[in-house]
Amino acid sequence: MADRKASLSFDQQTLEFPVLNATLGPDVIDIKSLGNAGVFAFDPGFYSTASCTSKITFIDGDKGVLLYRGYPIDQLAYHSDYMEVCYLLLNGELPDAQEKNAFIKEINQAHELPPKMLHLFKGFDQDAHPMSILIALVGALSAFDSKNPKDPAGRYQMAIELIAKIPTIAAMCYRHTQGLAFIPPRADLSYAENFLHMMFAEEADSPAPDPILARAMDRIFTLHADHEQNASTSTVRMAGSTGANPIACIAAGIAALWGPAHGGANEAALNMLHQIGSEDKVESYLERAKDPKDPFLLMGFGHRVYKNYDPRAKIMRETCHEVLDLVGAKEDPIFKLALHLEKIALEDSYFVEKKLYPNVDFYSGITQSALGIPSTMFTVIFALARTVGWASNWIEMISDPQQRLSRPRQLYTGEKERAVKPIAERA
Ligand code: ACO
Repeated sequence: MADRKASLSFDQQTLEFPVLNATLGPDVIDIKSLGNAGVFAFDPGFYSTASCTSKITFIDGDKGVLLYRGYPIDQLAYHSDYMEVCYLLLNGELPDAQEKNAFIKEINQAHELPPKMLHLFKGFDQDAHPMSILIALVGALSAFDSKNPKDPAGRYQMAIELIAKIPTIAAMCYRHTQGLAFIPPRADLSYAENFLHMMFAEEADSPAPDPILARAMDRIFTLHADHEQNASTSTVRMAGSTGANPIACIAAGIAALWGPAHGGANEAALNMLHQIGSEDKVESYLERAKDPKDPFLLMGFGHRVYKNYDPRAKIMRETCHEVLDLVGAKEDPIFKLALHLEKIALEDSYFVEKKLYPNVDFYSGITQSALGIPSTMFTVIFALARTVGWASNWIEMISDPQQRLSRPRQLYTGEKERAVKPIAERA
């Protein structure tokens, strides 16, 4: 088959660009050479721009498809677990039983933080947002890192260390803000059980958390493990393209995740439910969300890529209802309000026509709240789960021979060159 070309005509010239084939999803026009003709492409928000090639995750937002390394998210959520998904994202294949056990063993051996890091928590007020502490602590972890990112084995080890240590840091962020003593990690528990144990246990040897709640937590981790070139992953890749320390790059990704348009949506969604307050106010808030002059949006609704139901939201909704049943919270006013809002918004023509469905974070926020987790921890838990996605993307980026420093161009609309007047002559 002849190589396909795309042509672009302007100012009496026609330029040709190679068309690159995707395995799934849109092909891509390679416009690297466009700048040679003295013009740049303009795409604020990256609506139509691919910033890299990747083999990790595929999303078809119109069809509501999400694949990790080719496997549909629902099959992974129902037939696999977070440790298998971590192995899959990092290695490209699901582990067999022996590989899974060896992987879990490696993770379990690396949960402990360098002892000096424990002192750092003391520098934060108890009412500091746990995301601020997380960003600082993950950044600080880079100071203790001695892996060589130029060596593929060193890169992999860095990913293992991060996946293992981030639940410990996250749980400590929580306990610090609650004024509670830290609970050390336990290697005899599963990844999700260990996290819940470090968060909620009264004593180091308290009984293991309820397996159903641990499974719900594992599912939250699995559904958030990766999501192709979203804002935080692109931030990690961009910071990584400078050759910066990979753990520091992950800290940059965590900062990008914090915003309410991205990972901060789960916290914002729960705050919004409290702001709405009661079912009789839902209609008036829906009217506000539809009013273009009103900045109020329904948090936890809509998505840049999914213009169909987010496949993760479907699974998270199920888990959310399971957990609400299990903890007997279905009658809790805030959860009743959430379910009422979901029903009304799914029927409202504005939301239907604009394809604004509840996203995964609408349900993950409610689920976590029912698990007794405060809303300020929701984005921390998202960051914990996404660490494997960031690490996998960083490894892919740094191993790619086509990788270059990420340095976007701009459309300059400021002043033309002008002379500096001496201060006495300025009006
Ligand atoms: N409530 C009300 N109206 C909305 C909402 C919402 N949540 N989301 C989008 N719209 C409207 C916009 O006002 C816009 O209307 P217009 O066509 O009249 O201008 C239209 O729908 C399209 O919205 P855009 O903002 O152009 O879509 P974009 O893809 O840029 O935004 C985003 C996606 C940022 C997620 C947006 O839907 C939003 O802010 N949602 C609420 C925050 C949220 O839940 N974020 C989590 C995303 S998921 C994640 O990161 C894990």
